[in-house]
Amino acid sequence: MSILVTGGAGFIGSNFILKWNSIHNEKIINLDNLNYASNQNNLAGLSSSKYEFVKGSINNQKLVSNILRKNKIKKIINFAAETHVDRSIKNASNFIRTNINGTFNLLEATRNYFHNLSIARQSEFRFLHVSTDEVFGSLKKNDKPASESNAMNPNNPYSASKASSDHLVRAYNKTYKVPAIISNCTNNYGPFQFPEKLIPLIISNAINEKKLPIYGNGKQIRDWIYVEDHCDALIDILHKGKIGEKYNVGGSSEITNLNLVKKICKILDKKIPKNKKKYSELISFVKDRPGHDQRYSLDCSKIRKKLNWKPRENLNTGLIKTINWYLNNQGWLKKNINSNFRKWVKENYK
Ligand code: DAU
Repeated sequence: MSILVTGGAGFIGSNFILKWNSIHNEKIINLDNLNYASNQNNLAGLSSSKYEFVKGSINNQKLVSNILRKNKIKKIINFAAETHVDRSIKNASNFIRTNINGTFNLLEATRNYFHNLSIARQSEFRFLHVSTDEVFGSLKKNDKPASESNAMNPNNPYSASKASSDHLVRAYNKTYKVPAIISNCTNNYGPFQFPEKLIPLIISNAINEKKLPIYGNGKQIRDWIYVEDHCDALIDILHKGKIGEKYNVGGSSEITNLNLVKKICKILDKKIPKNKKKYSELISFVKDRPGHDQRYSLDCSKIRKKLNWKPRENLNTGLIKTINWYLNNQGWLKKNINSNFRKWVKENYK
């Protein structure tokens, strides 16, 4: 019996597979369509007896059904998604296709498979849908963090597509009894994150002495979680989470974008000092993101109390680990900064 990870060649998926593989014996099947932000090489070191890669989309119900049956899948964890807000603002169609239609097709294949399992196998089966804090929309500085029962209030095409997928997952649990659980997490950072996202973009630009773009006034607030802490939470949810419930996952590290970038610059000033110059001199304020959410923040007391999970890293320790990883893996960064990526940067920051 195996587990199916969808979108496992992406940032969080790759980290999850590496972690799961190091502590469990079940084989992992990774279904990934290898979009621009995925990278099969992240998982190149895994043994074929415990890991199999399948190239394909969660929209392909027939393929998903075959994988489920052939491998007697006992757990599905869905990471497959288009995730970059700025790209969703330029063109939302891939977001609708993967995040909404894809989740629907994955759920359809799952419910057909699930209803043909024996009672014993049904009782251990789980479908974990990995989602985001963005579905709750923007908070003001003094608002209470969003709890699992907050209404969804998405403000951009990306978060609207994730909110839709969360609704579908909930409905398949209520209507068809698919044993689904949803997790909503804050901003992740760590190894293998594609350099379009704020933290790897800043590290990569700083190393290459390029400008460090801050949207608007840089006062927007995000809560940052080291990706391994998120993966630990997901494993706890898979093992101990209650069917039909939602769990918020966060890093308890809220900071404005500007202060975060300054923090990264300070770490780099110590690690790879530049002649008499400070990395923060590269900071450059650029045009704001349309509909830019002011603040995301999650109340994570449920997962802390019920599943006894809490993050191990704080923002300082996590950033140092992340910066070390990018400094030691500049070949990985270079491969991702290809002509398509440069084209995106040119369009997005013009
Ligand atoms: O909150 C969880 C979400 O975090 C995930 O669901 C999304 O998939 C993920 O992309 C991320 O969304 P954000 O929009 O918060 O992440 P991003 O790294 O794009 O931006 C973080 C903040 O930094 C945001 O306020 C926009 C700002 N920013 C971003 C970029 C790329 C800049 O100021 N300059 C930039 O160049």
